[in-house]
Amino acid sequence: MAFMNKYVLSLLVLFLAFYYYSENEEFKPEMLQGKKVIVTGASKGIGREIAYHLAKMGAHVVVTARSKETLQKVVSHCLELGAASAHYIAGTMEDMAFAEQFVAKAGKLLGGLDMLILNHITNSSLSPFHDDIHYVRKSMEVNFFSYVVLTVAALPMLKQSNGSIAVVSSMAGKISQPLIAAYSASKFALDGFFSSIRKEHSLLKVNVSITLCILGLIDTDTAMEAIAGVMNLSPAPKEECALEIIKGAALRQDELYYDKSRWTIFLLGNPGRKILEFFSLKNYNMEKFIKT
Ligand SMILES: NC(=O)c1ccc[n+]([C@@H]2O[C@H](COP(=O)([O-])OP(=O)(O)OC[C@H]3O[C@@H](n4cnc5c(N)ncnc54)[C@H](OP(=O)(O)O)[C@@H]3O)[C@@H](O)[C@H]2O)c1
Ligand SMILES: *[C@@H]1O[C@H](CO)[C@@H](O)[C@H](O)[C@H]1NC(C)=O
Ligand SMILES: *[C@@H]1O[C@H](CO)[C@@H](O)[C@H](O)[C@H]1NC(C)=O
Ligand SMILES: *[C@@H]1O[C@H](CO)[C@@H](O)[C@H](O)[C@H]1NC(C)=O
Repeated sequence: MAFMNKYVLSLLVLFLAFYYYSENEEFKPEMLQGKKVIVTGASKGIGREIAYHLAKMGAHVVVTARSKETLQKVVSHCLELGAASAHYIAGTMEDMAFAEQFVAKAGKLLGGLDMLILNHITNSSLSPFHDDIHYVRKSMEVNFFSYVVLTVAALPMLKQSNGSIAVVSSMAGKISQPLIAAYSASKFALDGFFSSIRKEHSLLKVNVSITLCILGLIDTDTAMEAIAGVMNLSPAPKEECALEIIKGAALRQDELYYDKSRWTIFLLGNPGRKILEFFSLKNYNMEKFIKT
């Protein structure tokens, strides 16, 4: 028994050492120069900061959200900052036909696609769940299902470019918290879906990376208004958060954690899950799914 424990413990240490030290390629802003990138939910908050960073790095960007006026401003500022090109396409991600057509149009504008940054969410507020099933459905559609539709539409282009997908999620997509049941459900769904697809990509040799971004509280206007009077927490800055998301995607990391506190990041790592996933992969024979 003592032997087993020692054995398991050293295996665990080795595994974690491998896991945490295998992702240390260095990020350089030039990695994004001339790259073709889509950013959703880019009219304000973190999405807008992502667009501005990409612009400074000299990328081609297409941004989307519902409000045309703010998107116009984002596009002109992107051009001032040095974007190789910048366009917007306005519409709502409640409409799956829009989501699909958006990617097709953006792909035409860009002439391909290197990076898809999925960031938009439907509006939410902190309150106990009573009976608003329509809001649960809306959250699943906008925060989750539209991400699937956008990904399906973008994958052919991303496969051609060995591209990457960044999926913006939250601590609420890893641990449970009160007052955000619908939001939390949609963020957990992203983890289930995109982490499963990532495993398939690795087994089927599809070279499109998926980076799930787990964010703590960030100082966007929306978040600050939502928590006012309910939570007393100090947020992390949206500018740095946006940069970390781009870095994570460019370095093709599986997951990215960004929070004010290093402790949260450490504790959220969930080595148990990683170990179980690592060993469960050994049980699959994927031969019949590999296209020849
Ligand atoms: N801020 C935080 O504390 C925090 C923490 C953890 C995770 N996150 C995640 O970070 C991401 C960005 O959050 P944020 O705080 O930056 O949010 P935000 O400032 O409220 O921005 C949300 C964006 O989504 C767009 N949007 C809203 N409804 C839409 C719809 N129906 N169709 C298409 N676009 C829509 C908004 O533009 P329009 O209104 O013009 O459509 C806006 O551009 C989200 O995925 C969020 O879950 C944020
Ligand atoms: C979302 O915004 C709409 C329109 O502004 C509003 O009617 C609704 O109450 C908001 N929902 C939440 C959950 O904040
Ligand atoms: C994608 O990667 C494959 C090998 O991994 C390589 O042969 C191909 O040239 C790459 N394509 C692009 C566009 O980088
Ligand atoms: C996947 O694509 C990336 C980016 O082009 C490249 O650096 C990497 O070598 C490719 N990996 C494989 C296994 O082809």
